Amino acid sequence: MTPDALRYTRIPLANGSGEIPAVGFGTLIPDPVATRQSAKTALEVGFRQLDCAERYRNEEAVADAMLDVFRTGKILRKDVFVTTKLWNTNHRPERVRAAFDASRRLLRLNYVDCYLIHTPFAFQPGDEQDPRDERGRVIYDTGVTLVETWQALERLVDDGDCKSIGLSDITLPKLREIVAAARIKPAVVQVESHPYLPEWDLLDFCREHGIVLQAFAALGHGMEPSVLEDPVIAAIAQRVQKTPAQVALAWAVQRGTAFLTTSTKPPRIRESFDLSTLPEDAMREIREHIFANVRFNTVVETGVPGFIPRTK
Ligand SMILES: NC(=O)c1ccc[n+]([C@@H]2O[C@H](COP(=O)([O-])OP(=O)(O)OC[C@H]3O[C@@H](n4cnc5c(N)ncnc54)[C@H](OP(=O)(O)O)[C@@H]3O)[C@@H](O)[C@H]2O)c1
Repeated sequence: MTPDALRYTRIPLANGSGEIPAVGFGTLIPDPVATRQSAKTALEVGFRQLDCAERYRNEEAVADAMLDVFRTGKILRKDVFVTTKLWNTNHRPERVRAAFDASRRLLRLNYVDCYLIHTPFAFQPGDEQDPRDERGRVIYDTGVTLVETWQALERLVDDGDCKSIGLSDITLPKLREIVAAARIKPAVVQVESHPYLPEWDLLDFCREHGIVLQAFAALGHGMEPSVLEDPVIAAIAQRVQKTPAQVALAWAVQRGTAFLTTSTKPPRIRESFDLSTLPEDAMREIREHIFANVRFNTVVETGVPGFIPRTK
C-alpha cells in the first residue's frame, strides 16, 4: 500500500481547544536515557502527540527530548500535543494545582495540551506514590470524590494553563457520572483498547458526547495472547503488505480513536508511524472475525499500574 495521509489525522476536541493528532507516542519507559532517545526519535519520524505522566517519573527526560528537537527549529512547541496525568495521591483538590505545576515545570512547558486524571482511584495523599499498609495493601483515600478532583481540573482550564482535561482508566458507569456533573466535559478518555478489547460501547458513548477515546496498549502491551499474531490481523497484513502492528494501528485511527504505542527501537518507532488506510473489508473483518476479549492491564480495577515504573 502506498503511504497516505492517515498518519496525519487530527481529531478536533469538541470539549477543549485544538486538535489531538490520532497517532500518539507513549513515554512509559523505565529508563530515562531510553525515554529521551525514544521520544526524540518519535518526534523526528513524525509523531506529534506525546503521552506523559507524573507517575512515570521521567517528565524531565521527555522535556529533554522535546528541547532536542525544538532547538533544531524544524518542529515547534505548538505542533506537538502533550498530555500528562495527575497521580492517585494528588486527588485532593488542594493538591491538584501543585501537582499540575510540578509536571509543567519538569516538562518545561508553559501550557499542557491535555491533563488527565490518571485513574479514578484516590490513594492516601502524600509524596509516597504507592502507599501501602503493613500488610502490603494499597491505602485508598475515601476523603475525596472523583467529581471534586474533576472540578479542580476544570479550574486549571479556567486559568488557561491547560487546553483540555480528561480521564484515564475509567469505566463507562463512572464516566457517565462525570459527564453528568461536569461544567467542562472531558475532552479525552484514555483507556486500554486494541482489537482484543475494542470497547465499542465506551466508544459509542464518547462519540455521543464529543469525547475522544485515546487507546493505550494499541498493540496489546506486547503481551500474550499476541494481537500481532492474531490470524485475522496477520492475513490482512499480508494482503495489504503492511506489518501486523501497522494494521492494528491503522484500524485504531480509522475507527475514530487516537492511539498510543511505545517502543525503544527506532525501526519500530518508524514502522508505527508509517501507516496507510486499510480497505473497508479489512476494517469489517477485524470487527466481525476477531472474538478474543482480553484486558491486559488491571489498573482499571485497582488504580495500581500493571507496570511499575522505576523508583528513584
Ligand atoms: N493510562 C494508563 O493507565 C496507561 C497504562 C499503560 C500505558 N499507558 C500509555 O500508553 C502507552 C503505550 O502503551 P504500551 O507501551 O503498552 O503500548 P503497546 O504499543 O501496546 O505495547 C508496546 C509493546 O509493543 C512492542 N512494539 C512497539 N512497536 C512495535 C511494532 N511496530 N512492532 C512490534 N512490536 C512493537 C514494544 O516492544 P519494544 O519496546 O521492544 O519495541 C512493547 O513491548 C504508554 O507508553 C503510556 O504512555 C497508559
